Amino acid sequence: MRRRSERMRIKLNEKEIEADGSKSLLNICRENGITVPTLCYHASLFPEARCRVCLVEMNGKLVTSCSTKPSEGASIVTNSERVVKARKLNMELMMPESSCKREEDLEVCEIYDEVGMGKPRFPQIKEYKPDLGAAVIRDDNKCINCGRCVRVCADVQGVFAIDFASRGHNEHITPYEEKHLADVACIRCGQCILNCPVGAISERSHVEEVVAALNDKKKHVVAQVAPSIRAALGELFGMPAGTLVTGKTVAALRRCGFAKVFDVDLGADITVMEEACELLWRFENGRVLPMITTCCPGWILMMEFFYHDLIGNMSTCKSPHEMLGMLAKTYYAKKAGIDPKDMIVVSIMPCTAKKFESTRPEMKSGVDYVLTTRELGRLIKMKNVDFASLPDEDFDPALGVSTGAGVIFGATGGVMEAALRTAHKLATGKELENIEFSEIRGMKGIKEGSINLNGKEIRFACAHGGANARKLIEQKDKYHFIEIMACPGGCIGGGGQPIYRDPDVLRKRTEAIYAADRSSTLRRSHENPVVKKIYEEMLGEPLSKKAEELLHTHYVKRSRF
Ligand code: SF4
Ligand code: SF4
Ligand code: FES
Repeated sequence: MRRRSERMRIKLNEKEIEADGSKSLLNICRENGITVPTLCYHASLFPEARCRVCLVEMNGKLVTSCSTKPSEGASIVTNSERVVKARKLNMELMMPESSCKREEDLEVCEIYDEVGMGKPRFPQIKEYKPDLGAAVIRDDNKCINCGRCVRVCADVQGVFAIDFASRGHNEHITPYEEKHLADVACIRCGQCILNCPVGAISERSHVEEVVAALNDKKKHVVAQVAPSIRAALGELFGMPAGTLVTGKTVAALRRCGFAKVFDVDLGADITVMEEACELLWRFENGRVLPMITTCCPGWILMMEFFYHDLIGNMSTCKSPHEMLGMLAKTYYAKKAGIDPKDMIVVSIMPCTAKKFESTRPEMKSGVDYVLTTRELGRLIKMKNVDFASLPDEDFDPALGVSTGAGVIFGATGGVMEAALRTAHKLATGKELENIEFSEIRGMKGIKEGSINLNGKEIRFACAHGGANARKLIEQKDKYHFIEIMACPGGCIGGGGQPIYRDPDVLRKRTEAIYAADRSSTLRRSHENPVVKKIYEEMLGEPLSKKAEELLHTHYVKRSRF
């Protein structure tokens, strides 16, 4: 087995260099400023070397640089005529006409020129009917069989909803038994979308429906913005990852025509009130533990497909945007004198599974449409709004005041941390001295910690990414309180977020989320004056009959086939 780091001398394009032999030729080239085109490679996935676009010569042989490591004294050539010709031919063989488009922000477009790709040379062999799900759409006509979607679905998400079928030129990606994605155990997480280099998988767009609602003078259309959008939307307008664009997002939504812009962070604060009380109630009444918290409809689907014996462990709290959607159509509608039938609630979400969530009958949703971060970017561009020069504007105060606890819902561990800040106060009557739970922050797959509440040690843990969730569930009995998010990094890495190549983007977005928390005047959900007002004026108290009716839901067992 090769050691962690193995220094060796190699020749790279005639230049003698020292290299780390434990790294792939691709990474060594990139570290030395040499561009090598790739298609099936993604930094977050194990290299399967299917596309052969990253070819280089090593000691006179063509090798795939993404999956090959150097040998001592090896001579690597990245730009010979043979390499250039072979890359181009492989690309031409792979690219059917329908995927060979220079459109949007497709990763494949970045390498057309590097590879010297002109017009497609080979005809499309077979026509496929696109698979139109309510949340995720697949168009096999564009697919180049790079396998990235299969790997992310299996290795990162642990779902195995899609795989290769057939051989040779009939090879294609398909859900189990050629069924529709919507009819198999797909959790609609959209991680396959983030990983597809040619846009063969995408979210089901609701932009058209939202534009029609905005043009309908009889409708009062409100937007509500999820915590993680503010840490990612700027990327679609050329800003560096981790740029906080909260105020510009609000301003952009107003320019697009929304009558009011509300903050899902407030929904998160209400979720915390309900969830912290539910946790303490379970303790005091000897109910099922660990309590599993999530605001992730992807994990809910995963639980319903694979772990339905956990239904009793799941917190019954709706997710924050579903709570806020309900409050918009009840509390706000009443105050504003608007008939809820004339109101359209549009959630701006980092997530494709939220599109499915708002159609669940058990949800009795107040949300009419869900736009992903990418769809909002398209809407802003379609409306010719110059995002970068917008001033910062505040959310509408009726449902727009929130705390730092609400914003950290956007990162893995954040829902749990926010709930613990309030649970401590409710259980002990005292505020925590240190409200930052560093042990459950960051990108480690499974994180854990404990807290003392009135002399009892409460052990908690969280996981992000479906495969990590599976590992945590195996050891669930060690804990009293668990948080699970299906996407890597939590909502900041959601399947509806801007597409990224560098995994470090997730760390930068996460840092932005915690910076937003630190700069908040209020950092505990129970301090939120609007939360207090909503309980005083309408809900009574957490877990009241009214709160149960509007803010809680239940889950069902789902068949995988
Ligand atoms: S949406 Fe998620 S679960 Fe479904 S196929 Fe894509 S990666 Fe797999
Ligand atoms: S759908 Fe996209 S990611 Fe999946 S194999 Fe096809 S091209 Fe690759
Ligand atoms: S990127 Fe190396 S074989 Fe596809």
